Amino acid sequence: MTQAFEIGVRAKARCDLMGAAPFSEADDMLVRRFLTPAHKAALDTLKFWMEEAGMSVRLDPAGNLVGRYEGEPPGAPALLIGSHIDSVRNGGRYDGALGVMLAVDLIETFYRQGRRLPFALEAIAFGDEEGSRFPASMACSRAVAGTVDPYVVEMTDADGVSLAEAYAAFGLDPTRLVEAARKPGEVFAFLEAHIEQGPVLEAEGLALGVVTAIAAQKRILVRFKGQAGHAGTTPMGLRKDPGPAAAEAVLALERICREGPLGGIDGLVGTVGRMTALPGAFNVIPGAAEFSMDIRAETSATRDAAVAAITAEIEAIAERRGLKVSVTLMQELAESPCDADLADLLAAAVGDLDQPDRRLPSGAGHDAMVIADLCPTAMLFIRCEGGISHNPAEAVTDADCALAARAMVGFVEKLAMNNDFSKTQA
Ligand code: GLV
Ligand code: MN
Ligand code: MN
Repeated sequence: MTQAFEIGVRAKARCDLMGAAPFSEADDMLVRRFLTPAHKAALDTLKFWMEEAGMSVRLDPAGNLVGRYEGEPPGAPALLIGSHIDSVRNGGRYDGALGVMLAVDLIETFYRQGRRLPFALEAIAFGDEEGSRFPASMACSRAVAGTVDPYVVEMTDADGVSLAEAYAAFGLDPTRLVEAARKPGEVFAFLEAHIEQGPVLEAEGLALGVVTAIAAQKRILVRFKGQAGHAGTTPMGLRKDPGPAAAEAVLALERICREGPLGGIDGLVGTVGRMTALPGAFNVIPGAAEFSMDIRAETSATRDAAVAAITAEIEAIAERRGLKVSVTLMQELAESPCDADLADLLAAAVGDLDQPDRRLPSGAGHDAMVIADLCPTAMLFIRCEGGISHNPAEAVTDADCALAARAMVGFVEKLAMNNDFSKTQA
């Protein structure tokens, strides 16, 4: 069989194709949320591509699409390769999807050569890495890792639809979510390729980087409760307005994350990505104000110190203004180091392409940090223009995608030559 596509370049082109309807929920932007018709359309096409690449394909009970290319002997442990297929609202075309499409190109390369490896190759498209539909993300990769809380199906989206209802509408049984867990020994390692989503590689003129560790993060929902009232008749001194309280809290978050609560920054970043005043009208003093906090740092200790300092400020603001407040943890992920031996192997594959050995941490969250509970992980970063991501302006070059794909093939070749790895890890 001949290979009629340019590895990596085709992966990028497939992401471009999936950047619009029907693979997006909207005509004027890319938004592909978990268990929506756009997600279904993407999986239908991806299934076709995976089958064309020699894989047998299944939708697992969590809604991940998994394609398997058998090794020799059949039934051997698998190297799992992939990323997520969902997007943020008005997102870019490559965040997640590129890692999925690269996995397909990689596996198809071995299939076209008629080569079987001493281990299986599996491509995976995780369903919900972004959390753009339901408040907690990565239920799909947690299900694969065997760490999902079955009660996660009770969480609801902005329309009040529960994850259980969304699964049922998608044709999946929510009570079977935990059955997506891989058994010990079935998967010996995980490889995720992803755009860097930051400016470091571009600034240094590098196409590729090898990830050392993924930052710790917490997602928290804050809700100040006051007294709704008439905007024209209630004097300023007699209000219980949660709006200004939320504004003060956001400024406190910014100050604490800039200064670093432990005397150092340690990669600390804090973001308020969503703010709502309720009921939400020009002429109504809000009865409640709600906002999200996303706090990350290289270590859980720095992250938690920042969260504690911000929470203390929030409580003091509520007290001073005579308001009620709730601070609810929606998601917690510890920092996740990538496997040092796999990172060396990946760096060697990058080096074979005459690319420098650049190691860097990831501030963005990735499925790899959850899959680390199942098996050792490796991550390859690909330069993206201006470091811009979570934005329709996300851009990568054909040349960089081709290099990434070739590095991934080299990595797999090295693993096959050093097959002890799959045996010792399995
Ligand atoms: C995912 O992109 C995240 O880092 O939140
Ligand atoms: Mn993302
Ligand atoms: Mn991503």
